[in-house]
Amino acid sequence: MLWGEDPDAALRALLHARQPAYAALPHHLDTTHRTAEQVAEAVLALYRCEPRLLPVQAPDARYTVRIWPGGLAHLADVLAPHALRGSGAPPPLAIVSDETVWALYGEQVLTSVRQTGQPLTTIVLPTGEQHKHLDNVRLLYDRFADAGLERGSAVIAVGGGVISDMAGYAAATYLRGIPMINVPTTLLAAVDASVGGKVAVDHPRGKNLIGAFKQPLAVLIDPQVFETLPERERLCGLAEIIKAGIIGDPALFAACEDAASQAGGSLDLSALVERALAVKIAVVQQDPYEQGQRALLNLGHTFAHAYELLSGYRLSHGLAVAQGIAAATHLAELRGLCGPETRARIVAALRANALPTTCDAHTPAEIYAAMGADKKRRGGRLRFVLPRAIGDVVIEDDVPDEQVLAALERSR
Ligand SMILES: NC(=O)c1ccc[n+]([C@@H]2O[C@H](COP(=O)([O-])OP(=O)(O)OC[C@H]3O[C@@H](n4cnc5c(N)ncnc54)[C@H](O)[C@@H]3O)[C@@H](O)[C@H]2O)c1
Repeated sequence: MLWGEDPDAALRALLHARQPAYAALPHHLDTTHRTAEQVAEAVLALYRCEPRLLPVQAPDARYTVRIWPGGLAHLADVLAPHALRGSGAPPPLAIVSDETVWALYGEQVLTSVRQTGQPLTTIVLPTGEQHKHLDNVRLLYDRFADAGLERGSAVIAVGGGVISDMAGYAAATYLRGIPMINVPTTLLAAVDASVGGKVAVDHPRGKNLIGAFKQPLAVLIDPQVFETLPERERLCGLAEIIKAGIIGDPALFAACEDAASQAGGSLDLSALVERALAVKIAVVQQDPYEQGQRALLNLGHTFAHAYELLSGYRLSHGLAVAQGIAAATHLAELRGLCGPETRARIVAALRANALPTTCDAHTPAEIYAAMGADKKRRGGRLRFVLPRAIGDVVIEDDVPDEQVLAALERSR
């Protein structure tokens, strides 16, 4: 660049010419007196606070998942573009949460949603899977009716998978369907339950026996809320993230291996959630109604359901999935689908992340008998999702009993 006689004036002219372009940029950073490292750190901090947007294309809906640190304070902004319209006055909104989550985040959520200016009702249910049943769905219907919810209203589910499943089922069926927004607050709900459209409640005859497909209007994930998760819940989500890596993202799997090997084992949960969600989104977009490939997401589940059943459901689903992935990997090796290196890597990654990989509380015969109750059976045969390599899994439903028992023996 030629500065001519007066570099100062040249710079000013340049700044003036570029001003409109600079003004259009969403972020500005003052670099005065900052080292290059400090500037880079500030840029990263800005980047971390930006929502990451993941579009989802469902057959009957298109929606966006926002991964947004601090996003809880922006719930009103998430609602705004949807221009929810009622028959006259602004339509009422309903927030559904559980007692634990509400005690932690209720104020923050209310402050944000009140900015919409829409009438608001809050329904706080007792915490826990044992409350995910039709009686509470009936209670939600009562409260929706009391609040005058209409087709243009929305139900905002703030909580873990229990809340999104239950509020989602109520939203799917009330008035033949009203919009819902998912605000998952557990890692497991963020990477799994909040996306894909499956909603359900339990029935005395089986878990998730009563359900529907209901796509959310939007999903908001604020990773900051994971900071208050009890360790067990964090581990359950981590098991699902590792599962996603094995199903379809070797780099995600490697990141989980690496993070566990680092001192302090610090994980960038936002990044892991994003990658794990990308795997789930790709699968559910291909097979939204679970007629084929969506079953791949059930890696480890045929075994996991038996472990859960035998524990009287005291064992958390995510931990059972970790054990189930290990058992499925032994089975894959026994069937010659994967080599010992892949099996060793998967088991090691689970262990390094403090996840269980064995079950010695029950004999292989007991576990195998319990697997017979799995509702994911097809034509009377058990279905298994088995890894061939990291990022490559197959569905098999012609596995001989002896091989399953041998895999269970190896996972004791
Ligand atoms: N629909 C689907 O596609 C799908 C997929 C996976 C799981 N699910 C369902 O999800 C449920 C399991 O979900 P879950 O593990 O989130 O269980 P959950 O909803 O019971 O949450 C687990 C616990 O964490 C607490 N909690 C939630 N967020 C918290 C936070 N930020 N800080 C502190 N505590 C917090 C909850 O109060 C609860 O005690 C099961 O019912 C399962 O069937 C559904």
